[in-house]
Amino acid sequence: MYRQPIVTILGHVDHGKTTLLDYIRDTRVAKKEAGGITQDIGATNIPIEVIFELAEEYLSPIKDKIKIPGLLFIDTPGHLAFTSMREKGGAIADLAVLIVDINEGLKPQTIESLEILRRFKTPFVVALTKIDRLSGWKAKNIDFIKNFAGQSDSAKQEFEEKMYTRVGEFSEHGFNAELFYRIKDFTQEVAMVPCSGITGEGVLNLFAVLIGLSQKFLSNNLVVSKHGRGVILEVKKEDKLGNNADIVLYDGSISVGDRLLVESQEPFEVKIRGILKPASLQDIRAEKKFQMTDSVCASAGVKIIGKNIELAGAGANFYKIENEAEKNELIKILTKERKSREIEDRTEGIILRAHTVGNLEALIKLFEGIKIRRAKVGPPTKEDFMLLENSPPEDKAIICFGVENPFRDQNISKKIRCFEGDIVYKLYEGFLEWRENLQKQLKEEEEGRMKKIAKVRIIPGFVFRQSGPAVVGIDVLEGVLEEKSKLINPEGKILGEVIQIQKEGESIKLLEKDDRAAVSISGVSVGRQIKEGDTMFTFVSREEYRELKGYEKADLDLLDEIRRILGYR
Ligand code: GTP
Ligand code: MG
Repeated sequence: MYRQPIVTILGHVDHGKTTLLDYIRDTRVAKKEAGGITQDIGATNIPIEVIFELAEEYLSPIKDKIKIPGLLFIDTPGHLAFTSMREKGGAIADLAVLIVDINEGLKPQTIESLEILRRFKTPFVVALTKIDRLSGWKAKNIDFIKNFAGQSDSAKQEFEEKMYTRVGEFSEHGFNAELFYRIKDFTQEVAMVPCSGITGEGVLNLFAVLIGLSQKFLSNNLVVSKHGRGVILEVKKEDKLGNNADIVLYDGSISVGDRLLVESQEPFEVKIRGILKPASLQDIRAEKKFQMTDSVCASAGVKIIGKNIELAGAGANFYKIENEAEKNELIKILTKERKSREIEDRTEGIILRAHTVGNLEALIKLFEGIKIRRAKVGPPTKEDFMLLENSPPEDKAIICFGVENPFRDQNISKKIRCFEGDIVYKLYEGFLEWRENLQKQLKEEEEGRMKKIAKVRIIPGFVFRQSGPAVVGIDVLEGVLEEKSKLINPEGKILGEVIQIQKEGESIKLLEKDDRAAVSISGVSVGRQIKEGDTMFTFVSREEYRELKGYEKADLDLLDEIRRILGYR
């Protein structure tokens, strides 16, 4: 028995992956996604009859040879942060469609997708999307070949120019790309199918190529084995169904009553209570028209209901348990894999927590460049909080991706910032913003403690006391005069210390530029060390000078004047 090839759709964010599937499926999932971004992998089954109908002209000659029951599409998110989901999609893919916006070309996640395809040796076709945006382009026929013939010369020229720029980019990455109908050898060249998810042109050509590729490369790999294996796409709690999970079964079969071993911090068992099949052509996340069934064979995207399923994380693999010995062996393998990915305690940095090994990998990748002290599967523990207790403020953070902080309302949680959420890049942005603000705040506090320096002048006619201590009126010409500052004269000789600053009868600690007040100065007598009209400066030690030089807010001109007086280098 043959299963449907799993076709993963990969590409840069917003290049049109979901829209292209939507065109076929006619549900508008793209519009419902949070922020327009595909959050996780969704599966869509397209039966072979639908494909025959769509691309009849091209497929009818080989119709009898085609054994596959259809294609199962997996939509993946294009955002940077979802590397692990693309990997997951890439890992289970028999074939792939790499989406490239013809107007934008190869972008970072396109290139990353290419690397995944290269690594897994997945045959793929390039969909050059958004051709409807080419200037002067007209969509009169949904068959690309026919539609192209009817374009104006200038539209054709723009198309060719852009298409060949894309060919050049692919060649830079070691792939020979060529327009699908000009390809001579599908094992040597990557087919590019120009299309649009909006007008639908080129979609039938894309299907014809996909069917051709699966005939050429896959037939033997599509025989279903007896080992039930799959991956969890998303866990949901719904009013009618209770806890359930959307999954892709990529090998074997599963039935109601079967036990599954699900990958997690500690692998656990789920007993299947129900299997819900979506109506054909429906994305399994569209939540409509489910059909109860007793068992399902690969490849399939279905919803399963079962005890403990709510503990499963998106992206977790599962395995049908045949017997106890096999189960124990599997647990060993899974535990070893988890431990190989986790980061055990380093001396500094923040803590990362995620629901599955795959999610943890994605999180670690996203936080590259930020020091990580510990990264583990599972919710944060008391020990995590204790570990961070004596860390510097900017390391007091725990990122919880898809896991909850169980200590949210408890005291230990107060001094440590926990970022919780399911959208990994939002966690990252939130963390960066927090750290930036924190650093700004710390710097401001430090600058608040910064030594103040001033240039002052004794106002003629304002000598209130000659000595013991001398009390004179002063003007602050530059900087800020601080109580307890030592003063020097323009020759660098230390005069005395400011004991008190008095303004309008009140004692104050600081006196700003252009302000005046009465100050008492120890160790000097008016008429001897100082006199009316004299200029004085704050004394700065060598060490204080070096420190002040590093502050953005320091009065550097004044500091330099004082440095010259004191003869510092
Ligand atoms: P992620 O899931 O976030 O990685 O994005 P995606 O690749 O699934 O892109 P999506 O299908 O959500 O499309 C992004 C935007 O491009 C939407 O506004 C679409 O309407 C638009 N778009 C997608 N395909 C086409 C196309 O062929 N032509 C035009 N004109 N617009 C398109
Ligand atoms: Mg999408």
